[in-house]
Amino acid sequence: MIYSKICGTGSYLPTDVMTNHDLEKLVDTSHDWIYTRTGIEQRHIAQSHESTCDLAEEASRAALNAAGIDSSDIDLIVIATTTADQVFPSTACILQERLGIKDSPAFDVQAVCAGFLYALDIADKFIRTESATKALVIGAETFSRIIDWTDRTTCVLFGDGAGAVVLEAAAVPGIHSTHLRANGAYKDLLSVPVGISRNFEQIINGSAYTQMQGGEVFKIAVKCMEQIAIEALEANDADVEQVDWFIPHQANSRIIASTARRLGVSMDKVVVTINQHGNTSAASIPLAMDTAVRDGRIKAGDNLLIEGFGGGFTWGSAYLTY
Ligand code: ACO
Repeated sequence: MIYSKICGTGSYLPTDVMTNHDLEKLVDTSHDWIYTRTGIEQRHIAQSHESTCDLAEEASRAALNAAGIDSSDIDLIVIATTTADQVFPSTACILQERLGIKDSPAFDVQAVCAGFLYALDIADKFIRTESATKALVIGAETFSRIIDWTDRTTCVLFGDGAGAVVLEAAAVPGIHSTHLRANGAYKDLLSVPVGISRNFEQIINGSAYTQMQGGEVFKIAVKCMEQIAIEALEANDADVEQVDWFIPHQANSRIIASTARRLGVSMDKVVVTINQHGNTSAASIPLAMDTAVRDGRIKAGDNLLIEGFGGGFTWGSAYLTY
């Protein structure tokens, strides 16, 4: 039996930081309101010349470095992103050329904030079926580009960033199981209702923005995150005591705390980085994972429960041994 295992992590945040106090100058809000309701203190914003692929490249090089693997050994690239550089080619193809990788499959996955879990699931299946041996799996976003910076109900929540992992074939897991869900009936609660084939003129006039019914999203997110985490534990006959680190999508510290409470996971086992970068959508889970690997919290052999929830709605989880 062949499994996939994470052998390196990396992440990147743009250097420009926007604090809650900076936002007070843009919209009618306050640091206290944002911090109390979301746990966010600041977010990083890509400069106008920085693209999603630029962030993905930095995170990927850091992950390859940590894995001690040359980019030429990578035989699969999957990027989860909602904010691709171009309509086509995919951000993954642009990255492939930059990293000097030849002829590997390379493609983008779009599942908004659950995107990294979708990408990880796909790469895991490539490796288990011996279609790849070393995969670069990335979550990268310039979400600031699809935010209305005059809308206080959304602009305080999001930021830009990228996280990456290198997965390689291994005789032992690694990834024990992945669990994905979607329910398009909720498509209007969280969306950018604009694209290439619908309302394209809003892209041209620069008003393709994220819309969200925050309260509704909150309630459904907490329920779905609980269910999909339990599904991952049950699939592995594991209980919460066996989980060393719980790494949820970093959307709102209250969603994180509420999910942890429902699962019976103590907050000192939860990786929380949202205060530093806000909701970076598909980048948030690998960003948080890399932070906890690099600061020494996550160690080889630790059991990780990761999970995410995003527009669609899409949601998912994975149980793995680091
Ligand atoms: N600053 C100050 N006041 C604000 C702000 C703001 N930035 N935004 C809203 N308010 C006001 C509202 O207008 C409202 O005022 P009113 O009572 O006079 O009408 C009041 O604050 C309360 O607003 P609510 O929307 O009820 O506030 P709530 O406690 O629900 O918090 C929030 C809003 C933070 C958006 C919360 O609903 C939430 O986090 N939802 C989940 C969102 C999420 O996680 N989305 C991402 C998941 S998927 C993905 O990542 C793409």
